[in-house]
Amino acid sequence: MGESPQVALVTGGNRGIGLEAVRILLVEKLPHKVFLGCRDLKAGQAQAKLLCESFGDRVEALELDVADSESLRKAAELVAEKSGGHLDILVNNAGILLEGDGKHFAMELHPLFAQMTPRRLLARLSR
Ligand SMILES: NC(=O)c1ccc[n+]([C@@H]2O[C@H](COP(=O)([O-])OP(=O)(O)OC[C@H]3O[C@@H](n4cnc5c(N)ncnc54)[C@H](OP(=O)(O)O)[C@@H]3O)[C@@H](O)[C@H]2O)c1
Repeated sequence: MGESPQVALVTGGNRGIGLEAVRILLVEKLPHKVFLGCRDLKAGQAQAKLLCESFGDRVEALELDVADSESLRKAAELVAEKSGGHLDILVNNAGILLEGDGKHFAMELHPLFAQMTPRRLLARLSR
């Protein structure tokens, strides 16, 4: 039996650095499937459709507000259900804030994401 397909999730994946991260993952052919995290599902779906035209049926928009625990829970459950309970790459792009003193800090995701994501590849854009 072959290995499970690789799965990635980029939070805030509908624009800016997050969208570039989604593109890089697709170009590099690292994961089989990329969940494009977005607060506005319609906007995310439109972006995912465009990407699928270039990269095949490998992108799916996922409604996810990292500041909303209910949204996080729902998104984590959906990813778990669709990926068979594993997440290979997590780019927590939307979870990074710049504080007044210039320090970065990252928001924590739902524990389910942590359970699904092996430590071997956990990407954060914070320093
Ligand atoms: N650009 C830089 O030079 C730079 C430097 C240091 C750190 N960063 C950090 O890197 C990250 C991305 O930067 P960027 O320049 O690409 O920013 P951006 O163009 O403003 O894009 C931010 C992305 O995050 C999403 N987002 C914001 N709040 C969210 C939330 N609560 N839940 C889920 N998604 C949320 C936005 O979604 P919507 O479309 O729904 O708003 C958008 O997709 C940010 O966290 C930023 O603080 C950027």
